[in-house]
Formats: sequence, structure tokens, C-alpha cells
Amino acid sequence: MNAKLLDGERALVTGCGGGIGRGIAKALKAEGAIVLGSDIVAPPPEDGIDFLAADLAKADGWRRLLDGALRQLESISLFVHAASPRRQETDTPLTVSEETWDAMTGINLRSGFFLAREIGKHMREHAIKGRILLITSLHSGVPRNLPHYSAAKAGMTMAMKELARVLAPAGIRVNAIAPGAIPGGGFVAGNLGELVAQIPLGRAGTPDDIAQAAGAVLSERFGRYIVGTTVEVDGGLGLASWILARA
Ligand SMILES: NC(=O)c1ccc[n+]([C@@H]2O[C@H](COP(=O)([O-])OP(=O)(O)OC[C@H]3O[C@@H](n4cnc5c(N)ncnc54)[C@H](O)[C@@H]3O)[C@@H](O)[C@H]2O)c1
Repeated sequence: MNAKLLDGERALVTGCGGGIGRGIAKALKAEGAIVLGSDIVAPPPEDGIDFLAADLAKADGWRRLLDGALRQLESISLFVHAASPRRQETDTPLTVSEETWDAMTGINLRSGFFLAREIGKHMREHAIKGRILLITSLHSGVPRNLPHYSAAKAGMTMAMKELARVLAPAGIRVNAIAPGAIPGGGFVAGNLGELVAQIPLGRAGTPDDIAQAAGAVLSERFGRYIVGTTVEVDGGLGLASWILARA
């Protein structure tokens, strides 16, 4: 029997109640990993994902999640951060509130960084050649009229690079995936048809498109020399960067 891609791995996935995180949790499980998912909303029972509730909007949310995850998994070799509040079109550069800014940056950037850092230290301490993946966005580099969102994603990109540099010598690979337009989760398109017309591959993405790329980057079979970088999984949407301001 062929070994599965992620046999023997122990994975923590945030955002597992939503579109992309849920897709990633299911794909890692299908590839042989033991998966613990976390969110404020549980995934459907048919996914068969072990679930730990955690609210990452709270200042100590990430620490409680880490403590609980280590109790449940004992060790972590894969970490994926896909939790994020949904974006509202009304939160523009001139209108976004401090509360909305804090929630977006707190869940994406603050929780993502401290979870990744502490999990990285755990991996290094236990000589685990683990992998960490932050889910960012094409809007980490292109504005979207959503300053809290693009700033959080840009911050995650640099946090990823900082951690990648210091953890790589221990054999720990830290990377990011920047999804394009993935209906089914937090993505709401004003005009999906018009947007799809700009995607060189001719269709919107699916959570499974992101999950398959995540499995490859996280695996040592396909991703073993990938470190400190962002993989854009967008059907080529990033090539049409002028349209991103409206995506
Ligand atoms: N869908 C897209 O087109 C797209 C594009 C680029 C980037 N992304 C990114 O991918 C990731 C997943 O997005 P998605 O489209 O699946 O969105 P989603 O809304 O379906 O999933 C996000 C999950 O985060 C959870 N979450 C929200 N607040 C939380 C909190 N306080 N504590 C813990 N969990 C919380 C939500 O409950 C939800 O299940 C996000 O980081 C998003 O920014 C998505």
C-alpha cells in the first residue's frame, strides 16, 4: 500500500468551520494526518474532524488554544492558520472602526504570529521538522478598499518571513498561501461573472484547490525545499492585478 502524503503528522488547523480552513482540515486528514480543527463554529460532524473551540478575538485566545491543542495532540508537526473575520464592504480606509481593525488584525496577524511562533518553538524544542502555513491573500500586496484586511495580510506575510528565517535552520518550514477568489467561504463578489472573466484559468477557485496546494507545500514529498515564501493559488488572478481592487 502506498504511504499517504502526511502519514504520521499531527496537525492543528484554525478556521476549520469555514470554507478554506475546513477544506484544508479535510484534505490533511485524507492524506493521513491526525487533525485537530479549531474555530468559533464547529465543522459539520460528517467531516470527522476533532474540534476544539477557541475565540481568537480574545487577547488570550491563542494561548488557550495552544494549551488545549497540545493537551489533545501531545505534539504538533503541522500548523495552518486560516481563521479570519469576514470582511464588510463598508469598512473602507475612511470608515473602518477601531473595533473592526482590532478584530481583523487580532485574529489574522496577532493570533497567527503568536501561534506560529510558539508552535515553531515547540517543534524546535522537540526536534520536530514541522511545517507552518499562514493563509494570507492576494490583497497582502494589492489594495482592496479594506485597509484592516490588506494590512493584516501584509503583516502576516512579513511575520511569516521573519519566522521562516529563524526556524529554517531547525528544519522547520514556514510559508504562506495567498488564495485568489474562493466562493463558499468569506468571499463575496460584487459581480462574480465579471471577476471570473478576468481569471486566466477561467473559473473561480474552490476550498479544495487551496487545500491541495496546502497539502503539497506542507508535505516533505513535494514541498521540502519551499521556505519563507508565498504560493499564490489564484488561477492567475494575480496576473490581472488591476482588477483586484474590485475582487
Ligand atoms: N475565500 C476567499 O476568496 C479568500 C481569498 C483570499 C484569502 N482568504 C483567506 O482564507 C482564510 C479563510 O477564508 P474563508 O473564505 O474560508 O472564510 P470563512 O469565513 O469561511 O472562514 C474563516 C473562519 O474563521 C473563523 N473565525 C472568525 N472569527 C474567529 C474568531 N474570533 N476566533 C476563531 N475563529 C474565527 C470563522 O468562524 C470561519 O469559520 C481567511 O484568512 C481569508 O482571509 C480567503
